Amino acid sequence: MTTPLKIAIAGLGTVGMGTIEILRANSQTLKRRAQRPFEVVAVSARDRGRDRGADISNFCWYDDPVKMATEVDCDVVLELIGGGGGIAKSVCENAIAKGRHIVTANKALLALHGTELARASESAGVAFCYEAAVAGGIPVIKTLRESLSGNSVSRIQGILNGTCNFILSSMRSSGSAFGEVLAEAQKLGYAESDPSLDIDGVDAAHKLAILSSIAFGTELDFEGVHVEGIRSISAEDIAFADELGFRIKLLGIAEKTPEGIRQRVHPAMVPISAPISAIEGVLNGVSIEGDFVGPVMLEGAGAGGGPTASAVVADLVDIACGRILPLLGVSSSYLTRPSINPMEDHKGAYFIRMMVYDRPGVLADISATLRDHDISIEGVIQRTRSATEAVPVVVTVHETLERSMNAAMKKIAGIEAIQSPIQAIRIERS
Ligand SMILES: NC(=O)c1ccc[n+]([C@@H]2O[C@H](COP(=O)([O-])OP(=O)(O)OC[C@H]3O[C@@H](n4cnc5c(N)ncnc54)[C@H](OP(=O)(O)O)[C@@H]3O)[C@@H](O)[C@H]2O)c1
Repeated sequence: MTTPLKIAIAGLGTVGMGTIEILRANSQTLKRRAQRPFEVVAVSARDRGRDRGADISNFCWYDDPVKMATEVDCDVVLELIGGGGGIAKSVCENAIAKGRHIVTANKALLALHGTELARASESAGVAFCYEAAVAGGIPVIKTLRESLSGNSVSRIQGILNGTCNFILSSMRSSGSAFGEVLAEAQKLGYAESDPSLDIDGVDAAHKLAILSSIAFGTELDFEGVHVEGIRSISAEDIAFADELGFRIKLLGIAEKTPEGIRQRVHPAMVPISAPISAIEGVLNGVSIEGDFVGPVMLEGAGAGGGPTASAVVADLVDIACGRILPLLGVSSSYLTRPSINPMEDHKGAYFIRMMVYDRPGVLADISATLRDHDISIEGVIQRTRSATEAVPVVVTVHETLERSMNAAMKKIAGIEAIQSPIQAIRIERS
């Protein structure tokens, strides 16, 4: 077929310009794979005069991306603006209403409105593709939605945020404090000037909600994700983790339990020998557990213009070839409401670090409190002693209910010789 696939691009930032670069650099290869050429017919961004490092003067320009999505004669609209609603949502809704396919990299939009967009795109008979939205260049959506469709998935575990992984990896290699490493990440362009979406775990939670929905055939439920970030992780925690044979990672975990689906994002200690421990710096990694395939591990660049645009272009090839699937893998009429299993019911092992003044009987008080809450101690580290200053005491405990841990931590925080706050990090061995 020689009719080009006509593309309108909303957003000419890192991902938008990366996409234009791939379409130019690989045009001949793409034409063969897509069985037709790609043609960018219109573009939109805020500032027409901005130097974008490449010539875009031959594309029709729109100041208003919604107008572009509605007016331009095109087959596909790329929404590469970003944001969980607002202009990005309007671009998608208007394009769908006009019968245009959508490709986006926008995880926030999908996490918050994915079910609604699945219904709208399905009833309009258009594709809604978003490979780039989760783990950037790693083909995790295709793997889950297509390659593993013969399996029942029981668990997904991933490092889904490169900024956090960079910070935790650098804290370990340099021994520096969280704030120092965050400032360095901002200087290097790995963290935003307002880093909260990344370091508070929200970005990873957006991505986890999407993966969970595809894996378990449920409506998107971002509100059901338990979210904790990495702000409280200290250089001391990282050093103790190393000593105990662990790495600290911000993990996103979605798992099927007999009581329902649990979705959680939080820092976790993982054994150094686990493959996910070896994923360092800005890289992302996702492991998926299928009932027949077993564990499948994917690793690669989770962000950046090239890797993210690589996923955008792969979606364009699928659309050009007519490989169109429902947004969440199954028709939206088959999506079930997730029955969320609350975090309080989680069972796991924990690392607990307390800053303790050396007073007679304090360790006995800690162990008695743990015993009273049915929590069994695995090991204790107390190296230094000081007559005047609080010193760290680390206790690791065997598998226990999160509810019991919360109650025990509250009680231990009330012991006079213990400084607040107490650090508790979940240990994930699987
Ligand atoms: N960057 C990555 O590594 C990465 C990785 C995975 C997913 N993503 C996702 O990809 C999407 C785009 O990210 P990005 O990094 O490319 O963002 P970006 O560099 O900030 O670019 C955003 C683009 O949107 C344009 N824009 C913003 N508001 C607009 C408006 N009201 N009307 C028209 N255009 C508007 C901006 O115009 P101006 O250029 O004129 O300001 C800019 O070109 C986001 O959803 C992001 O979460 C990014």
